[in-house]
Amino acid sequence: MTDIKKSIHGEWSSRFAFILAATGSAVGLGNIWKFPYITGENGGGAFVLIYLLCIAAIGLPIMAAEIMMGRRGKQSPINTMETLSEEAESDNRWRYLGWLGVIAGFLILSYYSVIAGWALSYVLKAFTGSFSGGNALEIKSLFDDMVGSPIQLTFWHSVFMAATMYVVSRGVSSGLEKAVRFLMPTLFVILILLLGYAMTTGFYQQGLSFMFTPDFSQIDSDAVLTAMGHAFFTLSLGMGAIMVYGSYLPKDISIGKTALYIAGADTLVAIMAGIAIFPIVFANGLEPGSGPGLIFQTLPIAFGNMTGGWIFGVLFFVLLVFAALSSSISLIEPAVAWLVENKDIPRIKACIWAGLATWGLGIAVAFSFNIWSGFTIFGKNMFDLLDYMTANLMLPIGGFCIAVFAGWVMKTQNSREELELPDTIYRIWKFLVCYIAPAAVFIVFLHVLGVF
Ligand code: PFF
Repeated sequence: MTDIKKSIHGEWSSRFAFILAATGSAVGLGNIWKFPYITGENGGGAFVLIYLLCIAAIGLPIMAAEIMMGRRGKQSPINTMETLSEEAESDNRWRYLGWLGVIAGFLILSYYSVIAGWALSYVLKAFTGSFSGGNALEIKSLFDDMVGSPIQLTFWHSVFMAATMYVVSRGVSSGLEKAVRFLMPTLFVILILLLGYAMTTGFYQQGLSFMFTPDFSQIDSDAVLTAMGHAFFTLSLGMGAIMVYGSYLPKDISIGKTALYIAGADTLVAIMAGIAIFPIVFANGLEPGSGPGLIFQTLPIAFGNMTGGWIFGVLFFVLLVFAALSSSISLIEPAVAWLVENKDIPRIKACIWAGLATWGLGIAVAFSFNIWSGFTIFGKNMFDLLDYMTANLMLPIGGFCIAVFAGWVMKTQNSREELELPDTIYRIWKFLVCYIAPAAVFIVFLHVLGVF
């Protein structure tokens, strides 16, 4: 039945368009901003190794599962889950999994937009030559000034949210597809350039060995949880973003290859960002574990001290904003698709409601860096709390349920038909979603809870 049905929201114009959009969703602040700073906070090599393992053994199979479920359900994740559980003659409470995703997307976007706002404000700083000749101390105070200003953060967060909602309101092919078409290749080129600069710092080897020499004494259960959570976050998994993109995917496209490509590109960008950043960190006597400001306190040093650096600085932060934009649109798309389907309102209205709610929460996040920094819950300010709750808890729980649904609830015949993998690959996939992915998430949770 699902073969002939198309999504009411439209379809991607080609396989390439889907790959671009899904890669656009995956590659974002998670790769360039978050991966380096959490790697720095968790001691480097061993953390990177666990993260890579999680990508391969948990992320990849769940990504194939999400695309497959989305394409079969052809609706927003909530309604897709309802349709698929009916098809599997199972409980329709699986739709709550769709809800979990919509809420996670909304929560992530509220802080994601604030950080993307940092990048926006850095476009202007680069343009006006603020980095020029700057040493580590000057660049740090530039960052501290920005983060300390509630007005600046609110302003840039508002600009970013408005841009996101504008793109989403344009719909699948005119909005989402066009926005992501030209970003990835250019971002890649700038990263290569930064890598080139990192090689000239004299600390390239040290950066490499920080990232690739595993030292397991640096790892505790929270570090493992962070690495696993980040595998979900960076691949946009566990909340229906890839599922909703999968629902716009035409029938004749190979899901397995597509998932491999997306995960590969995403990992490459993260690793490249790390290799570019750590040599600059060490060369300037900075702390790898200095937290969310890491790239904003390191890369401007590079831009400020290379010839023509301001141009590259502008280009880099513009691209970072675009990478964030192509992710943020996928964070809110599940909610918008659901509002359109269930509340029968035009797409534009759905965007306004979803956008306003996210914007409001984002303001609280912006304030948590300055005037509300003393307000904490479980010892975490609003930003840390939202990040922990979503990346470390909601996405892995969502991913666990998706794996269980794809592996145990869906009929084998249906998943086989939709995935169209060669037999051995299908069996490996099935083994990973039935056993490895759910068990890994479960064990990490037990470990964090201190059960063993
Ligand atoms: N994958 C994005 C990044 O790495 O920046 C963030 C993200 C987008 C997470 C979409 C989850 C999601 F559904």
